[in-house]
Parts: sequence; C-alpha cells; structure tokens
Amino acid sequence: MTAPNIETIVSLSKRRGFVFPASDIYGGLGSSWDYGPLGVELVNNIKKSWWNWLVYERDDIEGLDSSIIQNRLVWKYSGHEQTFHDPLVDCRTCKGRFRLDKLQDVLCPNHPDVHPGEDKECSLTEARDFNLMFRTTMGAVSSDDDPNALAYLRPETAQGIFINFANVLNTSRRKLPFGVAQIGKAFRNEVTPGNFIFRTREFEQMEMEYFCRAVEAPKLHQEWIDGFQTWIQSLGISADNLKLYEQSKEELAHYAERTVDILYRYFPEREDEDKQWDELMGIANRTDYDLRVHSKKPEDAEGKRINPDSTEDLSYFDPQTNERFYPYVIEPAIGVNRTLLAVMMDAYTEKTNDKGEVRVILKLAPELAPIKVAVLPLAKNKPEIVDMAKRIKRDLQPSVRAVYDDTGGIGKLYARQDEIGTPFCVTVDHESLVDNAVTVRDRDTWEQERVGIDTLKGYLGERLG
Ligand code: GAP
Repeated sequence: MTAPNIETIVSLSKRRGFVFPASDIYGGLGSSWDYGPLGVELVNNIKKSWWNWLVYERDDIEGLDSSIIQNRLVWKYSGHEQTFHDPLVDCRTCKGRFRLDKLQDVLCPNHPDVHPGEDKECSLTEARDFNLMFRTTMGAVSSDDDPNALAYLRPETAQGIFINFANVLNTSRRKLPFGVAQIGKAFRNEVTPGNFIFRTREFEQMEMEYFCRAVEAPKLHQEWIDGFQTWIQSLGISADNLKLYEQSKEELAHYAERTVDILYRYFPEREDEDKQWDELMGIANRTDYDLRVHSKKPEDAEGKRINPDSTEDLSYFDPQTNERFYPYVIEPAIGVNRTLLAVMMDAYTEKTNDKGEVRVILKLAPELAPIKVAVLPLAKNKPEIVDMAKRIKRDLQPSVRAVYDDTGGIGKLYARQDEIGTPFCVTVDHESLVDNAVTVRDRDTWEQERVGIDTLKGYLGERLG
C-alpha cells in the first residue's frame, strides 16, 4: 500500500512534525515549506544515503560545496539568462497566470471544473517568456535596478561544479572518468508552484556531474540510469511506482543530447494512468556543452572566442593519447524534496488493530527513519522503571537516534512511533527490573520479543543495518 494521495502526506507531515507551511503565522508564502524536527532528520538521512552511495562507496567521485550566488557571467555563458524561461499566459478574465505547457495540470480559478482556457469566459493572452531565475543585488551601495549589481540565486547546483572543474581536477589528480557530487539549495521563480513540496521556488538538489570521454558517454549514461533506479529502490520505493521517460527532442534542455527522467507515481488518485506520474529526477547527457562554454579558448565559426570573459580553459589533457579535449558530462540530478515526498508516500501504510481501529504505519527503510528506537516505560510513576528506560536510551544514543517517551499510555506511544516510522520500540516493564530484559516491538509486524539488556545494542544494530 502507498499513500492514496499527496494530501494524506501533507496532513501527516503537519500533525507529526515533518513539514510545516512556511510563514504560517503570517498567512503562509504560497510554495514555501519548513522542515520540522522529524522532517529535517529524514532530509538529512536521504542526503547521507546519496552521499555515501556516491562519494564514499565508490572510488571515482569527489564532493563539492559551491556558492549559491556566483558571478552573473556564469549564468550568461551557461545559457540560463537567455533560455531558462517558461512560457507564461495571463487570463484577462480571472487575472490568473499560468504556464502554457502545464495548463492541463491546473484548474481555472473561476470555473474549477475545467482547465484555464477551456471555459467560454476564459481569455488567455499570447504566451511570453518568463525567466525563472531569482534576481537580487550585490553590495551595500547598489540600487535595485543597477545592472552592475545584478546577481542571481542559482537555479541549479550543476554550474558550480562546471566552473570548478579545473580546481577539482588539479587538486584531486583525477583521471577520466570521474564525478563531482554536490548537494545544495536551488531557486526558481516557478510560475505555478504547487502539490506540496513537489514544485517549490526554493528547493534542494543532489547533483552529480560525471566527466568522461565522448565515446564512453552513451554507455555510462545507461549505467547511471540503471544505477539510480537501484538506489531509489534502496530507499524503500517500490519499482511499481517508478518508470522511465525518454525526453523527446523538443523537450530536451539546450545543453542535452539525451535525457531520461525517472518518474514516480505522485498522483495515484488520478483516473487516467498517464497523469499519475511526474518527474522525480532527470539523467542527462550534457555533452561537452558546459565545459566548452565556460572556457576561454573555443571559437565560433567566424573565429571569435565564444567566451571572451573566461580566464580558464576547462579542457582535459589525456596523457595516454596526448590529446586535449572537453570532457562529456553525464548528469544524474535529483531533488531532495521530491525524494522525501516519494519516500513518505511509498512508506505510508494503514493497518487495522484487533480493536478494529485503523493505524497508520510509515514503513520507512531503517536507514531513513528519523528515529531508530523509542524507549518507553510501561509505568511512568515507577522511578526504577523510568530510570532504567532513560539509562537504556542514553546507552543507545551514541550509535543510533533514540528517544525516550512517557507522555501517554503504551498503546498511544506505539501508535505515535508507528506513524513516524520508528522501526523499534523498547518497553521497560516491571519484569525488566527482575530479568534485566526488555520487550522489543517491531513496527511492521507488531511482533514483540524479549531481549536481554546486555544484548540489546547488538540485536538492534543487526536489524537496523
Ligand atoms: N542540473 C539539471 C537540473 O537542474 P532539472 O530537471 O531542472 O535539472 C533536477 O532539476 C531535479 O531537481 C528535478 O528532477 C527535481 O527532482 C528537482 N526540481 C527541479 N525543480 C524543482 C522545483 N521547482 N521544486 C522542487 N524540486 C525541483
């Protein structure tokens, strides 16, 4: 079972402290969301999993953390100033503003039974390009419209990797093929943000640029498409809720030769199966486009430098063949927030207990669970039991994220931990004072096992992985 719709995750998130609407006490801010005590743990665990898998478990990937605000020229030469647009239309009647290519995804504010443009009263303008980059100004003396002070918040983390290609290459002494991984915030002034954290104006990306020779690019591209499907499933997401989408020539970004998206079933409630899916990530073959456009040497057909502002040549010298060239790049790019949403939707389960009550269980992979173990005293008015439970929690704490909770009856405490995805509850009872053992309850099966306190750490460690 998965969540029946995104709304179910929105309310669970708010109820339990995963994600809150941002600026809520001032009426909110449209598409901004804050990650609460459990949300931030889940976000961090997703990022840790991605980073471990790429940077620590392989031998060919380095990490990077580049600035959000870069020299404006980065965005001039990357092509974003010129081409990072969405086609925008306004409705003269309802004053709504929509993305021309996403009209089918939204409803007319005046006639919510049809899409914008479909009612006889709708009057859409011609489409015009709207640049998605967030603008800001740099420096204390700048005025808002000073072109010399204009700067952008990055719309993708990728460019920070390309402009650091030579720095990473020279300091890490890498040979092709190798990759550079980066996690960080990106900003896009989306025309129609929405669907909770699926499309927001501020979001977080995990991007890896894998530099290689042109001839090996198609094969490596396929390997990364396969590899990411495996990694996503390792997060507990079912293969049934994933599918690949090959972008058509018309859809490809200006830099891409081939892009394959991995889609997740974010909208299972939609009757039309085709409309249930949307992009979780994209895996692009960006060719040598980026390193070339940021380099000082390449010339156009008339012999003019394509980038007269760059001071660096981002080419690669191959000592084996004595050749110098601009490497190709395979780019798997995935959003942290969309991953979190897919993980929560896929983990969502309901189960009926023997009293006929429906309970929510968030069957998160143990690696991702915000809290791994909850230690619960069966009687909170019995100091010996409370002390023992707190001691057990402190002993576990250095190796796993454990909490102590005595704020309700045991049934309520179990239900709360099930709903936030805690794989194990450890209950200390009167018997524990005698046999030095506790009851360990499994989140998914609700089965209970008696485990000696001396062996508890090993028991949990084995099961948490
Ligand atoms: N460097 C390539 C790049 O940025 P993208 O497909 O535009 O490619 C990569 O973005 C991923 O970032 C997407 O697949 C999605 O997971 C996430 N993403 C993009 N725009 C987003 C938005 N407005 N809100 C949330 N996540 C977004």
